[in-house]
Amino acid sequence: MIKAALTEQLEKLKAEITNCNKENDLQMLHSKTIGRNGIFRELMDGIKELQAEDRKSYGQKVNSLKTEFQQLIEKQQKALFEKGLQKTGAADGLDLLVPALTGSGGSTHPITAIEKEIVEIFTGLGFSVASGPEMETDFYNFQALNIPEEHPARDMQDTYWLDNKMLLRTHTSPCQIRALAQYGVPVRVIAPGRCFRNEEVDASHENTFHQVEGLMVDKNISIANLVYVLKLMLGKIFNKDVTVRLRPGFFPFVEPGFELDIKCLICNGARCRTCSHTGWIELVPCGMVHRNVLSMSGVDPDQYTGFAFGLGLSRLVMMRYNIADVRMLNRGDLRELSQFYSYT
Ligand code: FA5
Repeated sequence: MIKAALTEQLEKLKAEITNCNKENDLQMLHSKTIGRNGIFRELMDGIKELQAEDRKSYGQKVNSLKTEFQQLIEKQQKALFEKGLQKTGAADGLDLLVPALTGSGGSTHPITAIEKEIVEIFTGLGFSVASGPEMETDFYNFQALNIPEEHPARDMQDTYWLDNKMLLRTHTSPCQIRALAQYGVPVRVIAPGRCFRNEEVDASHENTFHQVEGLMVDKNISIANLVYVLKLMLGKIFNKDVTVRLRPGFFPFVEPGFELDIKCLICNGARCRTCSHTGWIELVPCGMVHRNVLSMSGVDPDQYTGFAFGLGLSRLVMMRYNIADVRMLNRGDLRELSQFYSYT
């Protein structure tokens, strides 16, 4: 038999559960009754004091009472929950118990991330960030860069011409002219941006791609300054000291013009597939700003000299992550892209 005192206690607890109107209180009642150290534990312990023949019926009685309490608590829990839903107005179809969508926090596209890094490196060197429009005039994209009409160099960049006689800029170099017009000299700017060329897309060519233009004009600027700045930037991007070399390169707006190569980071110059078995990777076209460009922008080329470069970002990203096909960067496949960067 269940002791009278305990029976009385059970009745009291039952009433408390039925009248309970707070989640926390119900939790307490759960612990007090069917919880691990609750009253039912005490009741079960009482079985030891009974004669063997009474134990079975006692055990059954306690278990059925326990089930009754369990059901009572669940019923009350449900009632409280429904009351809560009505209070928050969430009863109509909104299930507050559905786990929240955790999803991924997103990640920065490797091109965006590397552009941000470059901007940080150059602003750290005292460069300002300049910009220009993607829809440009012939003047800024070509003429002011020493590429007059009919100049064969125009064929180097297949241009998207627009009906209004404007064009989609083929490079970020027009930002050089805009920066000279806006700031005069001395000037130190970088200009990241999208460029467009009417080209067949393949493993290393896109019709829309990103460049970062760099321009520094002051008194006594030399090729040594150009090499120093680019070597410093590439060392930071690749997180190691890089070996660079300059080769002649032709761009009408620089004289002399160069292609700056870095020693292949994959084979360290031992010649591999990535560097087309040359040991070097062509990375940054650059040079000393042409006298004509300075003059056309109203800068005296006898007093001022400067360097400029135009860095292709996809190539840099491909080099850094050993990506063979640039199209991978444009597919928009988040499974591929999220492996490069977590959100920064
Ligand atoms: C130019 O665009 C010059 N404006 C760069 C320059 C600036 C030279 C200042 C001297 C002084 P080029 O056409 O080589 O140069 O392009 C520069 C970089 O942009 C290339 O090295 C390459 O990394 C990238 N690039 C060019 N065309 C494409 C393309 N179709 N797809 C992807 N990247 C490209």
